[in-house]
Amino acid sequence: MTSLFDPIQLGAIAAPNRMLMAPMTRARGTHEHLPTPMMATYYAQRASAGLIISEAIGVSQAGLGWPYATGLWNREQIAGWRRVTEAVHAAGGRIIAQLWHMGRVVHPLMGGQTPVSASATTAPGQAYTYDGQQAQVQARALRTDEIAGVVKEHVQAARNAMEAGFDGIQIHASNGYLIDQFLRDSDNHREDAYGGSIENRMRLLREIVAGISEAIGADRIGVRLSPNGETQGIRDSDPLALFARTLEMLSSAGIGHVELREPPLHGSFGVGYMPPLAAQLRPYFKGPLILNSDFDIRRAQDDLENGTGDAVSFGRLYIANADLAHRVAHGLPLKADVRETWFTQGAEGYIDY
Ligand SMILES: Cc1cc2nc3c(=O)[nH]c(=O)nc-3n(C[C@H](O)[C@H](O)[C@H](O)COP(=O)(O)O)c2cc1C
Repeated sequence: MTSLFDPIQLGAIAAPNRMLMAPMTRARGTHEHLPTPMMATYYAQRASAGLIISEAIGVSQAGLGWPYATGLWNREQIAGWRRVTEAVHAAGGRIIAQLWHMGRVVHPLMGGQTPVSASATTAPGQAYTYDGQQAQVQARALRTDEIAGVVKEHVQAARNAMEAGFDGIQIHASNGYLIDQFLRDSDNHREDAYGGSIENRMRLLREIVAGISEAIGADRIGVRLSPNGETQGIRDSDPLALFARTLEMLSSAGIGHVELREPPLHGSFGVGYMPPLAAQLRPYFKGPLILNSDFDIRRAQDDLENGTGDAVSFGRLYIANADLAHRVAHGLPLKADVRETWFTQGAEGYIDY
């Protein structure tokens, strides 16, 4: 019977347990999007996770719209992240970089230009900027001849991640950001080779996977998808068909893992617009499948045993319990995270749990 404490091979990465740390933006970088020393402490504290998936990291200035988040497009950022990966490795851990292009939700005050997306649409709600929250701005549809450049940015960021000492990367294709804006039909109204059919809508992701595979090896790539959730106004009219086909494509590409972020219908952070699809999607991906959102230890163990997934990533539990695996192994109580300090810049609520 599979246990959360069993090791698992995630492509090229050997994880000693199946309690992985989910990617979480924490806004502890500098105004110029550089990693800070405190971030090395935070991640090293969590090194006993089977694998740490880093907070989302911008692939370019134009694709990053989150104050105090970091990037991987320049030398200083590579050097800053190197200090983080060294600290994690010294503490016995493994860490991959989640690569992020936010697409239409980047406010011009952050990205420096009109945001880009699959189509000229506007995200609902407010965008984050250094001047507080601002109304979202209508995106400009990427021209067909610009898409190769976006792929290249992702490939370069993956190379930079390896140079910074990460064990691999995860492509952020979930939660309503750029790649998800292409995948799902609520935002993608394109009439070129990147819109319309499922094959076309997943073309951007396929090209990014192919480019990064060539650069660092497919077995160091993971992909995060969010089949059942509506985030930032992005959803699909037929998610089962779309994501089944996407998983088959990722399976043939031979990548190291897929992580499904699927909140329940009444999740405590994010909601699904339909029940999670993981059990139905499982047959379409041959590699390790990581489950996420609103898992407690019991449900995580159950879903490993019934074969829905091969590992579980925990977000908020790792905010408040740096030594989660140790606590679970010894039956120690789990602490709750404090939402008010999710995105504040200080040490409080970050490295002091
Ligand atoms: C503070 C915070 C920041 C997050 N940032 C990211 C992120 O950068 N990338 C991402 O894919 N998901 C992000 N998420 C979503 C988490 O990875 C995860 O899907 C969510 O917290 C549900 O898992 P949980 O119930 O175990 O916390 C974030 C969640 C939280 C709470």
